[in-house]
Amino acid sequence: MEFESIDEYKRKIRHIIVSEKEIKSAVKKAGKMINSIYDGIPILLVSILKGSFIFLSDLCREIKVPCEIGFMAAKSYYEGTESSGIVKITMDIKQDISKYHVIIIEDIIDTGRTLNDITKLIKKSNPVSLRVITLLDKPGRRIVDFKADYSLFEIPDLFVVGYGLDCGEYYRNLPYIAEFSE
Ligand code: IMP
Ligand code: MG
Repeated sequence: MEFESIDEYKRKIRHIIVSEKEIKSAVKKAGKMINSIYDGIPILLVSILKGSFIFLSDLCREIKVPCEIGFMAAKSYYEGTESSGIVKITMDIKQDISKYHVIIIEDIIDTGRTLNDITKLIKKSNPVSLRVITLLDKPGRRIVDFKADYSLFEIPDLFVVGYGLDCGEYYRNLPYIAEFSE
């Protein structure tokens, strides 16, 4: 993405959808929920790159149970609107999933395709248990029926950036979530 000026870069950030303060308190609450569910049981957090890296780093510091971190990146290929079920893992986790209570950490669920494929793949490795936590959910955009176990914020059908989410690799470093528009 090219910007003619810093003003142009800033102009594309429209109004704030979720503030820094709202994110902080929701992440704390999610951490508490994880601590009470797992209550001393070791877990493996699997962060789906790149969008979830900031959410992961804030959330993991609220977690009091023994916790390992893994990273995974995937690309999905589809024909038309139907999922072909082909998901290519471009970076895989190093841990042996079958030994862990796994929590997938995602930035946003849009059509549902990515997480639908990733959870199917992870289930094949027989984790002891599996949960999915997403920072944002756009239920209005769903094509594949997929529900996270826990979603911090439901948002309307808008393209958003910030707190890890990008447009053309920019804006991930914004401390809040904002609507992006050309
Ligand atoms: P899904 O497979 O359609 O659910 O796509 C999820 C992925 O699309 C997310 O992990 C994001 O990388 C990307 N995505 C979906 N909506 C947005 C958005 O509003 N802003 C930035 N990235 C998005
Ligand atoms: Mg993503």
